[in-house]
Amino acid sequence: MIEFFLNGERQCVDVPPDTSVLALLRETLGHCGTKEGCASGDCGACTVAIAEPDAPPPAMWRTANACITPAHQLQGCHLVTVEGLARGEALHPAQAAMVEYHASQCGFCTPGIVMSLFALHESRRQVSTIPLAPQALEAALGGNLCRCTGYRPIRDAAHAMAAQPDSRPTWADDPELETAWRALGRASHATHYHTPQHLAELARLRCEHPQAPLVAGATDLWLGATQRLEQWPEVIDLRQVAELRRIAAEETGWWIGAAVTYQEWEPLLRTHYPAFAHLLERLGSAQIRHRATVGGNIANASPIGDTPPVLLALEARLRLAGPEGERELPLSAFFLDYRKTALRPGECIVAIWLPRPENGSQLRVWKLSKRREDDISTLLGAFHWRQTGERLQDVRVAFGGMAATPLRVPTVEAALEGKPATAEAFADAKRALRAALTPLDDVRGSADYRLTAAANLLERWALTLRPEPRRYPGGGARCVRSLNVCRPITLALRRARRCPPPRPRCG
Ligand SMILES: Cc1cc2nc3c(=O)[nH]c(=O)nc-3n(C[C@H](O)[C@H](O)[C@H](O)COP(=O)(O)OP(=O)(O)OC[C@H]3O[C@@H](n4cnc5c(N)ncnc54)[C@H](O)[C@@H]3O)c2cc1C
Ligand code: FES
Ligand code: FES
Repeated sequence: MIEFFLNGERQCVDVPPDTSVLALLRETLGHCGTKEGCASGDCGACTVAIAEPDAPPPAMWRTANACITPAHQLQGCHLVTVEGLARGEALHPAQAAMVEYHASQCGFCTPGIVMSLFALHESRRQVSTIPLAPQALEAALGGNLCRCTGYRPIRDAAHAMAAQPDSRPTWADDPELETAWRALGRASHATHYHTPQHLAELARLRCEHPQAPLVAGATDLWLGATQRLEQWPEVIDLRQVAELRRIAAEETGWWIGAAVTYQEWEPLLRTHYPAFAHLLERLGSAQIRHRATVGGNIANASPIGDTPPVLLALEARLRLAGPEGERELPLSAFFLDYRKTALRPGECIVAIWLPRPENGSQLRVWKLSKRREDDISTLLGAFHWRQTGERLQDVRVAFGGMAATPLRVPTVEAALEGKPATAEAFADAKRALRAALTPLDDVRGSADYRLTAAANLLERWALTLRPEPRRYPGGGARCVRSLNVCRPITLALRRARRCPPPRPRCG
């Protein structure tokens, strides 16, 4: 049995453990306003907004892809769909602005876009006089595709929302209603969908149901249900296990609970590792980052997962727990082969150790993907170092997409460690890279493209170490960084796609 509120009304439903929020809405509750496009979290047509009791009042509406969100994760939440936004005949400002700016054509994507705009509008109500920053708009809509209207009218509608009459639904400002859904409790009353609250309970449930998959944000796992039509008679949910949900600060670093979401982790990274935080802006979409966890990213062991290369460059460690108790493992010992990890039967990841940045240490992270928003990496490079005088120290270089697992490249590190950051040292590093790695060759990029692009990321790093302005024949001073970095990458892309070379440019 799942108890939750839908558009201000209490619901009590019983569905199998592998039911998605989308299937619950459309098939069980007959709410067909939420659409199914891709069923894989990519298009945003199924976007809904969920307020969870874990965040303090007032309710914070966060978008999610209903197609890959387990229905049982609604326990104790308030779910809002496109049917719930209007107040009688009066449209919500997000809807009214979409109408006024002609931001819908076939209409298939529109419920999802309206829900993303709804969440954006609600999060900005206190500051609605400030113009909407382009980055905030991109972040809110990056997970919504529209194939026929074009994005300009949608963007215009987003900018115009704040000026619309404030006709929000009656449930939006009802404190009694909020108290009611917050009182429902998070623990599941379902027989086959288990929500352990502590590690000991998790261990017991895993012994009793060894075949039950573990689920956290479900943004990888649930594709098994929607794409491969897998069925799970039992599911064990990690999102309420206290030990997996906290961030514990220590003198030399932090233990990040494995079920902490990207959105919850981001403020810490922004303060201490801005380059890592910047990467999160490009990890999936807002819908994905609201629910996906770092533990899921590591356990999934994809060679193109975004956080493992960065965590490898930061020398992260893992705390694992299983039937034989807890143990710690360097992340570098976790990835054994393609999607094969060091997890023993019955074990799970409890937390990830993130060391505090040392004095003078620096981090650069570059992700290459075909699309900026909501796209998996073709290749990701993470570079850690300190500079003492002219010399590079503590050099750590890690890549994703360059082998069957994310990995560090010791020969590249050795080519640079203790050396001045000269062109010769980086030429050695690039030679070492080519000798050490045999990248994947797949639809995202050929092995040749990946090798060339990875070498170009080393070049890019080298250029950022020498950012002094240089005079160019065309006049003004330009930073080496902005002029030359993209060119080798563009050339590599053209070679990989067998395009004719561009006409030579001066400078
Ligand atoms: C549209 C879309 C875009 C995406 N974009 C990106 C992207 O840009 N970059 C990227 O890296 N990934 C991306 N992903 C993949 C996914 O979002 C991430 O890998 C995410 O971090 C997975 O976390 P989760 O909590 O959703 O994992 P889940 O799907 O819940 O779990 C994934 C796997 O890990 C296991 N697991 C989860 N937690 C634990 C634990 N604590 N211990 C042991 N096993 C565990 C589960 O059993 C499952 O096998 C994308 C996915 C989608 C659908
Ligand atoms: S249907 Fe496309 S994201 Fe859910
Ligand atoms: S209006 Fe047709 S896909 Fe967006």
